[in-house]
Formats: sequence, C-alpha cells, structure tokens
Amino acid sequence: MSYAIDQDSESNEPKLTDHSYDGIQEYDNPMPGWWVWLFVGTVLFSGVYWLYFETGVPDRSIFDDYKSHQTSVMTKRFGKLGELKPDAQTILLYSSDPELEKWLAVGESTFLTNCASCHGIDGGGGIGPNLTDDHWKGVQSIGDIANVIKNGANNGAMPAWGTRFNHPNVLVLTSAYIASLRGTTPSNPKAPEGNVIGPWAAGDSTAPSSPAQPAN
Ligand code: HEC
Repeated sequence: MSYAIDQDSESNEPKLTDHSYDGIQEYDNPMPGWWVWLFVGTVLFSGVYWLYFETGVPDRSIFDDYKSHQTSVMTKRFGKLGELKPDAQTILLYSSDPELEKWLAVGESTFLTNCASCHGIDGGGGIGPNLTDDHWKGVQSIGDIANVIKNGANNGAMPAWGTRFNHPNVLVLTSAYIASLRGTTPSNPKAPEGNVIGPWAAGDSTAPSSPAQPAN
C-alpha cells in the first residue's frame, strides 16, 4: 500500500513545501477537500447548536426536558387526584385519612431526599427544628406548613422550595407528611423550639373539624 503523497508530475518526486527548518523539509500534502469542508461544517453546526440550546430559551435545555418529562410522569401517577390545593383542608385530609395514606409515600420520599439532612430522618430535628412535637416556630396552623416549605424561613436557614418540586402536588403531599409526623417518637429528639400550638385543624379554627371528602 502506498501513501497518497502529491508528486511532481515531471520528476516523479514527492512535492515539498518551500520552507526548511535546519534542513528538515515537509511534504506538501494538504487534507482532502471533503475533509476540510466536513470540519468547517462541524464548526458551523456547533455555533447553531449553541445558539439553540444554550442561550437560555426555556424548554430547550436537557435539564428542562428532563423536568418536563418528570412532571408528566408525576401527572400520570397522580391520575384522578388532579392538582391538589396547598390549603389547610387538603393537607389535613391527606395527612390523616387512612384511605389516602398511600399518597403520603410521595411526601415521605421527598422528605428523605431533601429535608432529612436538616430535620433528621424521623423528623426529630438537627440543624432544623423537631417536626414531631407540639412546639413550632413559624407554623401556627397546618396550612402554614406549605407556606414555610414554599417560601422558606429565617432568611434562608430553612430554604425556600418554591417551584423546585416536579409537580405542585408534591408540596401538598410533603406538607401532609410533615403534619403526620407530629406526635410520633423520633429516636433522638431535638429540644422544643417556638410556641405550643393547637392540634391540626382545617381552616383557622382550633377545633378539629371532620375530614373533608377528596376532590376528584
Ligand atoms: C439547610 C437545612 C434545611 C433543609 C434542607 C430543610 N429545612 Fe426545614 N427548616 C430548617 C430550619 C433552620 C428551620 C427553622 C426556621 C426558623 O427559624 O423559623 C426549618 C423550618 C421548617 C419548618 C417549620 C418548623 C417550625 O417549627 O415552624 C418546616 C415545616 C420545615 N422546615 C420543613 C422542611 C421540609 C419539608 C424540607 C424539605 C423539602 C426542609 N424543611 C428542608 C432547615 C432546613
């Protein structure tokens, strides 16, 4: 097999470039045209690709794509639950109705992934307060749980979760899971912080109301 070195048609000698470094010379053997154009093409393509995917237009990045897939998977999983409202009545219902208990698993796994590092795996507290006792710092009634999770507290000591969950129901079900921790016995409870508040109740009244029916 012979290498494709351009040859001088008359002398049959390989063509050389016209420079010489300390007597070392170089064959004049340029890349083939198709290769050069392919290379130019990839450079141009990368520019177009960058403009399309990396300039912050929403719903184009791989992360946005992943998030929207996750949301649609969650929506399918939630099925006839529809979109839950983050209000006191709904949170109370999902925290206490045995029929709906399976949905607390969504809240539990969210808690274990995102919250247990500060609140303890059983809610007993750590950097963050104990969530199992009757003392609460920024929560007066059950509906406040969703507000604290969404907006954070104490200048970000409790981070704001805002829209970081994959589906709005995750906020509601995590709040319900937190509400359900109250009265449980953690292995290593942190000392109480804040004020004693009344039992969980729908609405602002402190009297426990009868659980509402699921909206579906
Ligand atoms: C970086 C640590 C940290 C993480 C992570 C964290 N928290 Fe907190 N959380 C705190 C701190 C600190 C407070 C107390 C804020 C205050 O002083 O009012 C708090 C307060 C709370 C309260 C109100 C408690 C009360 O006594 O009023 C709730 C409810 C809560 N967190 C739930 C959650 C949930 C749910 C998650 C996960 C989605 C979470 N937290 C993740 C640190 C954290």
